[in-house]
Amino acid sequence: MSFSLKNVISIKDFSKEDINFILKQAQHMEPVARSQEMSQGMVGKILGMMFYEPSTRTRLSFETSMKRLGGGVIGFAETGASSVTKGENLADTARMISKYADALVIRHNLEGAARYVSDIVDVPVINAGDGSGQHPTQTLLDIYTMKRIFGKIKGLNVALIGDLKYGRTVHSLSYALGMFGAKMSFVSPPELRMPQETLHDLKEEKAVTQETDDIHQVLDEVDVLYVTRIQKERFPDPEEYSKIKGAYLINADLLKGKDLIVMHPLPRLDEISTDVDNTSYDKYFDQAFNGVPVRMALLDALLKSF
Ligand code: NCD
Repeated sequence: MSFSLKNVISIKDFSKEDINFILKQAQHMEPVARSQEMSQGMVGKILGMMFYEPSTRTRLSFETSMKRLGGGVIGFAETGASSVTKGENLADTARMISKYADALVIRHNLEGAARYVSDIVDVPVINAGDGSGQHPTQTLLDIYTMKRIFGKIKGLNVALIGDLKYGRTVHSLSYALGMFGAKMSFVSPPELRMPQETLHDLKEEKAVTQETDDIHQVLDEVDVLYVTRIQKERFPDPEEYSKIKGAYLINADLLKGKDLIVMHPLPRLDEISTDVDNTSYDKYFDQAFNGVPVRMALLDALLKSF
């Protein structure tokens, strides 16, 4: 098994072998991620972080991953403290940081921003979320989490719930689930349905079993409820958001007697009630932890082969 990518921009760029390689390596990284073992794998290497949009888990788990492997991190968590506020453009900023760092992690509000940067710098580029586009490293940790719990992805029944239109996590995840032979239900308000382009991509695998706005239609048949936040910041009209917010509420009462797990990329707002936390359904905090071993495996694969 090996890893063939220089950049991590879209999950569509991955082969099954690439994904399986990262999942396998991530398992080996777990003791280091839990601080039970030490690693010097990235000593002398520096990761450059360019975060044009807010982030807690993605940025901090990348930083943790790099540091646990003995490497260093530079960059900005918000543009306010960088020369972006002076008007420096994305290309110059990326070119500059690529002179200091061995790889770049970028989160940007514009779809395509990470691909653009990967075309103009020489070091590997990792897309940590580009607008409503893709979030491939989230998908790797989502798939890792499901595989850890169920042993395989093929044949799993997964419901993706919430904002399927603007949510980049579900755009990436649905593609990977299709590739590995899972079946999916898409549950969203009619205004926030999965984009046609993604539906078209999944058609060949016959991966999508239903599209509905009614969560009750899926509760008895799914193994995984993958819940997402309504992406307020992507709505062109705040009034449209206020009509849709709070569309779904997953609480302990709704889940009672159901044989399933609940995942969420986080942050959650009001879509999962806190009475689900620490029940057998709650896998979202374990899922967030899994970002560390998975991103360690990814950094190792990218920086060793490059
Ligand atoms: C997600 C994102 O930024 O797309 N967060 C994350 O990386 N875990 C989900 C979200 O913001 O709703």
